[in-house]
Parts: sequence; C-alpha cells; structure tokens
Amino acid sequence: MSDANETLSNLAHENRTFAPSAEFAAQANAKADLYDQAEADRLGFWATQARGLDWETDFAEVLDWSNPPFAKWFVGGTLNVAYNCVDRHVHSGHGDQVAIRFEGEPGDQRNVTYRELLGEVSKAANALTALGITAGDRVVIYMPMIVEAVVAMLACARIGAPHSVVFAGFSAEALRSRIDDASAKLVITADGQNRRGNVMSLKPAVDEAVASCPSVNSVLVVKRCGNDVTWGEKDVWWHEFVESQSPEHTPQAFDSEHPLFILYTSGTTGKPKGILHTTGGYLTQVTYTHRNVFDLKPETDVFWCTADIGWVTGHSYIVYGPLANRATQVIYEGTPDAPAKDRWWDIVERHGVTILYTAPTAIRTFMKWGDEFPESHDLSSLRLLGSVGEPINPEAWIWYRRVIGGDRCPIIDTWWQTETGAMMISPLPGVTATKPGSAMRALPGIGVAIVDDAGSPLGNGSGGFLVLTEPWPAMLRGIWGDNQRFIDTYWSKWPQYYFAGDGAKFDDDGAIWLLGRVDDVMNVSGHRISTTEVESALVSHPSVAEAAVVGAADETTGQAIVAFVILRGGLEGADGTSLVATLRNHVATEIGPIAKPRQVMIVPELPKTRSGKILRRLLQDIAEHRSIGDSTTLADPAVMNLISAGLESSSTDD
Ligand code: PRX
Repeated sequence: MSDANETLSNLAHENRTFAPSAEFAAQANAKADLYDQAEADRLGFWATQARGLDWETDFAEVLDWSNPPFAKWFVGGTLNVAYNCVDRHVHSGHGDQVAIRFEGEPGDQRNVTYRELLGEVSKAANALTALGITAGDRVVIYMPMIVEAVVAMLACARIGAPHSVVFAGFSAEALRSRIDDASAKLVITADGQNRRGNVMSLKPAVDEAVASCPSVNSVLVVKRCGNDVTWGEKDVWWHEFVESQSPEHTPQAFDSEHPLFILYTSGTTGKPKGILHTTGGYLTQVTYTHRNVFDLKPETDVFWCTADIGWVTGHSYIVYGPLANRATQVIYEGTPDAPAKDRWWDIVERHGVTILYTAPTAIRTFMKWGDEFPESHDLSSLRLLGSVGEPINPEAWIWYRRVIGGDRCPIIDTWWQTETGAMMISPLPGVTATKPGSAMRALPGIGVAIVDDAGSPLGNGSGGFLVLTEPWPAMLRGIWGDNQRFIDTYWSKWPQYYFAGDGAKFDDDGAIWLLGRVDDVMNVSGHRISTTEVESALVSHPSVAEAAVVGAADETTGQAIVAFVILRGGLEGADGTSLVATLRNHVATEIGPIAKPRQVMIVPELPKTRSGKILRRLLQDIAEHRSIGDSTTLADPAVMNLISAGLESSSTDD
C-alpha cells in the first residue's frame, strides 16, 4: 500500500474537482434524489429497481437475510435472463435496433440487431438442449471476443445452465482445473482467435484439457479463423449444428436464486475460487448500475466496454447490463495496436462511440504511446468515460479527461469485484463533482465502511480496510463447492461485514480512495493473480526448490510480478539467463501469459521469520528498488545481505 499512500499524500495538495456541466446534469438518468430514495427505504429502492425487469412471477420478499452470509434476493420471483436481455426489446418494437456492432481484428464487421440476436440465441439454446444440456448443468465457455461468445452465454442463461467463462488467454491446465471443479458437461470454444495480426489457436488447449475431464460430453466449436484443428468424437461444429436448429425457442422462467454463472478468480491460495452468481439480484444490479452510472440512452448512445468476456467486467457490462438496457454496443476482437496504435480511436470515430469503459493499465499504455494516436481521430462523439479494475493514478485520470475526453466528458472511476457482481463505489456522472483518482462514494443502495483492525468504522481523514455493511442484490452467493471457504474468506474477519480485501481511505471531504489489495493478491493490468498461484507454478518446475512472489509497482501494469527463486541443489553452475527465461515461460504455460513474471531473481535464501513465514515486505523493497525496511523479525538477519549479493549475479528482465 506504500505507493498508494504516496499518491494520497500528494493528493493532499490536489484540490481540483470536476463537476458535471449543467447540460450533462440536466439530462442525466440519475439525479441527486437517487441517494435520498435509497436512504429512505433501501429494500423498497431495490424492489423498484428490480421491477424494471420483466418477471414472470413477481417476488414476495425483497431480501431474506435470515441465514447470513447466504442471501436470497427477490424471493419467490421467477424470470428468464435471456428474455430480459433480448426478447422483450423485440416485443417492445425495437427488433431492428442494432445490439452489437462487431469488429474483428482483421477488419471484418457484423451488425447484429436485437431481432437477429433473438434468432441466434434461440438456435443456440435449441442446440444446447439437443446436446443434452438441461437446467443446472454447467457449460464452460473458452472463446475469443466474437458475437458467438455473447450468444453462447445468453443461450446458457436461457435454458438455466450456469456458464463458466474461462479467459481464452488461460492455459490448458487452468482450463482443465476449471472444467473439473465445475464438472462441466459441455465446452464451447473456437478454432482460434486473431491476435496482433496472427491466428492464435484455441482448440489444442481444449483438446488437452478435455482429455482428462470425463464430465465433458461434447465440445462445440465456432469456426472463427479457419486454422487446422484436430477433430475428435466429442467435437461438433457450431456452423453446422447450431445453424441447423430452429430459430424459435420458448424461454422458461427460473427462480430468482437459480445459478446464472460461475466465474473463477484468484484468491490467496493456489486454487482459484468459483464465484457463484444467481439470477434476479444480479440482473437487477447490473442493469441499474449500467443505466445510472453510464447514463445510458438506448436511442442514441453507442457503448463500448473494452473488457474481455473472460472477466466479470465483460459479464456485467458487455453482456447482461447493456443488453438488459437495450444498448447498442461495440465489440472488438483484437488488441489496441493492430494494425496500428490508433486502432481504438479509429473504432471510436467510425462507430461514433459515446461511452467508453476501460482500465487504467490501458490508459497508461496509451499515454506512453503518445498523444498523436488519439489526436489523429475525431473523438467528439464521446460524452462519458469510465475506469475499472485498479486504482487510477491522478496523472492518468487527467490525461484520460483531457486527451480522450476533450475536457468535456465526466469520468466515472468504478470500484467493484468479481464477488460484488456489479459496481459498488462510483460517482454518478450527472451529480458528483469528481476528484482525479477517487472512486468517490458508495452508489445509492450500497453500504460501505472503512474500518480499523478491530472492525470499528473510521471517519474522514482515516485509512483502513474497505468493508460492505449491507447485503446487495448482485452479491456472490458462495464459492462453488466450498461454502466454508466463502465464509472464511469474506465473513470471518468481522462477521457483520463483507471484507473486500482492499485498503481504502476517506479524505477530509469523505471521498473514498482505494489503496490496493491488503492480501496476497496482485493486481496486474487489472487482473487478479495470487502470489501463491505463481509460486506453485514455479515450484512445479524441476529446477526450483522454493519460490516467493511479490507484486511490485509498475508504471504501466499497476503491479508486476517479481519472483524470487531458490534453485534445487546441484544447479549452482546452471546458466542463469536461460533458466530465468525458462522459468518465466514455465509460469506462462502453467497459468497463462498474463501471469508471466516480469522478473525472476535467483537467490540463495529467502527472508523468513522464526516461524517460517516469508517476509514478502522485504522482497517487495528489493523489487521496488527501495532500501530494505525493518528486518528485525528475521530468523537469520544476514539473509538479506546474502540475497542482495546473490542478485548481482542473477539476470532479470528480458
Ligand atoms: O483491488 C480492487 C481492484 O480489483 C479488485 C477486483 O478484481 P476483479 O474481481 O478481477 O474485478 C475487476 C473488475 C471489477 C478489487 O478488489 N479494483 C477494481 N476496481 C477498482 C479497483 N481498485 C481501485 N479502483 C477501482 N476502480
């Protein structure tokens, strides 16, 4: 948290606030009275939000919190999520409105109207049923950012089969463990995806994973790139099987608490947690936040969230929130530098994007690339900018506002998590005078506090742990197959609060500043990776005896992974340079390229307390090139000298 604290003390001198313009405020969906409504009657407020959806059976009770931490929202209600995201817009006369403006990396384009989307989702739902999938069965989706990925998720929701989307950059092993943990019956994938002008095949990872997952009966494969694939007896082509299905499908309503999806995220152990989300509460909160925080106007806006569907941001703000609100949105398959570093700005200009939602790591990358790329495009269509995934430093915030937003667009910095399902802390763009770098305050209907170690709430000017004080509709309902871990991780430090794992501070005006994780979870380019996960990957290599991993401050990615490794005996004469490269690649193969350490340092010892706990804080000092802090609790105080001496002879970056 030291870096964030530095930012914070710099900000003590930073008094700028940016109030919305009078024009923006006047037309905003959310006015200041939204806070008053929620405060006057929190559950009534959420009931009103929920009733904006189409329920087959109305709910009898807003919240059942009789068995904490297991909440039930909108008890007794039934609805179909896909119906709410697609059918109802066609029925209300908006079938010809474009839902998705897809752009592939090679430049291919496809507009999909809500009517067409209904046909596609219905065909896919029929296909899933024909493959033997029924309500409650788990389906793993391992796909590029293409229209079929959205269709696949909605088809699962339509038939009540919880999906588990696995980011297509994850390794075969990461995919295997997720298929296995959820005992998935079906995997939906593609032959490959376009990345930076190349075709990256996806099917081999699926083949490898499925070979050791007996629960999988079928693999449905979209032909995206036409690359060669090995074909097995479980494999079915999407363009043959789905396309031959009827475009008619009658959706069935499911209980408000029916599981909608599982999404794996890193925790503090090596085993990812399957975060479980359900139907009515989740859809209510993603729809409410998408409408009010993005100020969405379905008739005129072109929304673009640049996340991948493999992360929760893609679930909530590409698929469910925007479609439930009848948005027209851009989906882009590829990387921001293909074919050139102005690709995003070219997309904004050509599609007339009005609302852009992205991550600080991307913003910092664009800052580094230079203003000439955005400046070579007309970005005047933009009217609102959003940020998510990690703290946004004031410099990046100001750049985003000035260069991308032309000094006219409000910026919403939105704090939330895979576990919260939807935004929790954020400005309201037509109400809040924002401060560069602050997520400002809890959204209407959400209860947030910052507490000290004893769980006592802190006031303005104080820093501590961020907690959520009230159950919220989109909250996780548990960890798949491990309720005890759910209780232990989030509800045991202070049983009356949900512990988010983040440090935070109220400034003197009561604005909230997020200070980063307080546990052993790193945030690399807005993605959560646990130190233990990377350590286990490293020690699975035959050369490694022991490993300790820390997240070190990084100008572009927020944090970067730095690993300290002790080699097994007998490897003293090994070629350090090639071993470092081998180990970095090994982690990429075990977990995925996003987990590849920026540096691997070969050391003779690790700093440990007498009880054997690694003092990561000291390693972090080394990784961040600081003088080493208090080392009096070390079992062997000489060890830091040994490490420093050892480092001089080991190689680091590539
Ligand atoms: O540390 C916080 C950080 O990302 C974590 C959640 O990660 P994940 O579940 O992968 O979800 C990311 C997208 C919602 C949080 O515990 N985080 C997320 N948004 C912000 C943030 N930190 C500071 N400011 C944010 N706006």
